[in-house]
Amino acid sequence: MVKLKAGFAFILALVLCLMACKPAPQSYQWHLPAGFPEPIVPLDNPMSEAKVELGKRLFFDVDLSFNQSTSCASCHQPQFAFAQNSQFSVGSTGLVLRRNSQALINVAYNSNLTWAHSGLNSIEQQILIPLFAEDPIELGITGHEDAVLSRFDSPAYQTLFKQAFGNEGASFASIVNALASYVRSLTSFNSEFDRYAYHAEDDAMSEAAKRGMDLFFSERLECFHCHGGFNFTQSSQHQNQRLDLRPFHNTGLYNEDGLGAFPASDQGLFEISLLAKDMGRFRAPTLRNVEHTAPYMHDGSLATLADVIDFYAAGGRGAGTESPLKSPFIRGFDLQGSEKQDLIAFLASLSDEGFLTGKPSTTKEAD
Ligand code: HEC
Ligand code: HEC
Repeated sequence: MVKLKAGFAFILALVLCLMACKPAPQSYQWHLPAGFPEPIVPLDNPMSEAKVELGKRLFFDVDLSFNQSTSCASCHQPQFAFAQNSQFSVGSTGLVLRRNSQALINVAYNSNLTWAHSGLNSIEQQILIPLFAEDPIELGITGHEDAVLSRFDSPAYQTLFKQAFGNEGASFASIVNALASYVRSLTSFNSEFDRYAYHAEDDAMSEAAKRGMDLFFSERLECFHCHGGFNFTQSSQHQNQRLDLRPFHNTGLYNEDGLGAFPASDQGLFEISLLAKDMGRFRAPTLRNVEHTAPYMHDGSLATLADVIDFYAAGGRGAGTESPLKSPFIRGFDLQGSEKQDLIAFLASLSDEGFLTGKPSTTKEAD
């Protein structure tokens, strides 16, 4: 008994020492409106300014692709809110991807990642795809691990890795953790809408944008049912809300066979779940900065915001309007007079110009 107690005391002392001797985790200042909930961050990859700084360097560095041709930023460009202004992105070997590059906006709050995957829930996990996937190849590191890693031996990178991870040095684990920290840091909460809604600046939005907001949140247009919450997607979770709302919907873009089939090239969530009802279901994306992320939808098949609104007004596209798998919220509607322009003005009021510079907006952060 005594022996056990001594053992326990020793372990306790060791734990206390470990806690005290370990360098204090570096703090990180989120750029959020006052009182806004912080995103959930994995315990084994806490945020720090040093990791974000290193992640940013890596994100823009073509040395991360096996043939030094492509970086994350080739497909995720700051001036397009970290999306790309082409229908499909091209990987480092010239291979065309089947999906439109996603904007990286407030990704830290997304409970599901990519256009249609219910099981991909951590950014660290998602990043392995562009780094290592072989079909299709994006950065193409697989088979070239040592060559790629050796490029991060430079004194400048060594310093950055040391600041972020201590003596661990460059490894794919630290590269992934730094990139994920940078992606998490890409918060955007400084649009005209935010100034109006969260900072009580009544004049921040134009009258047209306010009329468009009323349309967006109306039962007639139904947009808010799927693009709900502070991030205009149901996919959000944060420190005070860990619900999984399964934010996947079929919007009636396609109906190949009268039964609701999407083209074999991309059938959305169905490919993951193999459930018939998930055919053509995709994640409702955030609409923040949407003015800058054209073209639209998972396959970039709608060129402009006006096209997107026409699509919803028609209740889908072509045979898609008759799809039995289409969400009941996609019913179609008639817009009168200036209503279409008003809705576009509202969507444009979600733009955060500071975000497009590649830095988190800082002017309206918590005091
Ligand atoms: C060749 C183009 C390309 C490259 C290079 C690329 N991405 Fe992407 N990224 C995409 C596409 C396309 C998607 C959507 C994938 C899907 O839905 O299957 C995406 C999705 C994402 C997402 C999910 C966002 C969300 O809201 O769910 C993250 C995060 C991301 N990429 C980060 C990165 C990082 C970090 C790198 C560099 C290591 C990178 N990407 C390199 C094209 C690219
Ligand atoms: C039933 C749910 C639902 C409703 C209702 C809905 N959306 Fe969507 N929205 C989605 C989904 C899902 C996508 C992605 C579809 C895809 O990629 O195939 C999307 C995509 C978009 C996009 C393209 C975003 C991008 O980054 O490509 C815009 C813009 C948009 N919606 C605006 C609206 C507006 C405006 C309304 C109201 C008129 C509306 N949505 C109603 C679910 C919905």
